[in-house]
Amino acid sequence: MYTLIDGKAVSQSRRNAIATEVANRKAEGLPVPGLAVIIVGNDPASQVYVRNKEKACLEVGFHSELIRLSEETEEATLLSVIDRLNGDPAIHGILVQLPLPKHLSAKTVIAHIDPKKDVDAFHTVNVGKIMLGEDGFSPCTPAGIMTLLSAYGIDPDGKSCVVVGRSNIVGKPMAMLLLHQNATVTIAHSHTKDLAAVTRTADILVVAIGKAKFITEDMVKDGACVIDVGMNRDENGKLCGDVDFERVAPKTSYITPVPGGVGPMTITTLLENTLKAARLS
Ligand code: GUN
Repeated sequence: MYTLIDGKAVSQSRRNAIATEVANRKAEGLPVPGLAVIIVGNDPASQVYVRNKEKACLEVGFHSELIRLSEETEEATLLSVIDRLNGDPAIHGILVQLPLPKHLSAKTVIAHIDPKKDVDAFHTVNVGKIMLGEDGFSPCTPAGIMTLLSAYGIDPDGKSCVVVGRSNIVGKPMAMLLLHQNATVTIAHSHTKDLAAVTRTADILVVAIGKAKFITEDMVKDGACVIDVGMNRDENGKLCGDVDFERVAPKTSYITPVPGGVGPMTITTLLENTLKAARLS
């Protein structure tokens, strides 16, 4: 019988601790952590994500500023908004929701954020720190996964870990965090030959590819821990992950559900990063 990794419960207990620290800061007259979220355009999934981020901020007592810009916003306008936030002492974290409309360069925009306020950890300075294992902001989804593993006593040290997906947001930083905890890490992707043979070597399998129910039971080792980062719709429009949960779960020791697994942890790490930025300000 497998154990379901309850991301909602772990997330809630972390958010309670954040709320307590924010209340203590208020009582001591210290600044309340402030997060600014910028969304450009009308991407429906992004709209849901930014609303959830704002709601989470307010629940823990943060100051939250949600800035909505039109699809046609010019680069210079967006950069001037970031300039203003970089200089605003009430704002400790700045997040530009991705993807941006095609005429805007995410690279240019992210480079404009003060690295000390880059709570997404997307700026090259912060990516470099992740690579070097230096203290800094945690990449939100991968660090949330590390928190889940730790909460369930799953130690990556010496384990075979396979990360499927090589994105800058999840796959690459995930591999680094596992490596820093002494795992033997393989990154697999769309060009990997005999993917099933690779994923079957995993004691810990992390999947972040964005393909509904792609990982089937023949691709998973008996007793593996399976972490599903996917957030897709199945053929009936129901939310589902990258893992075919019903078929895979019985083979695992631990598995994350979708929804309620990794998802809540991403925002929790964002809150933790914003609190950290406020502490350091
Ligand atoms: N789009 C999808 N995930 C993320 C994220 O973690 N941060 C930002 N800024 N945009 C995203």
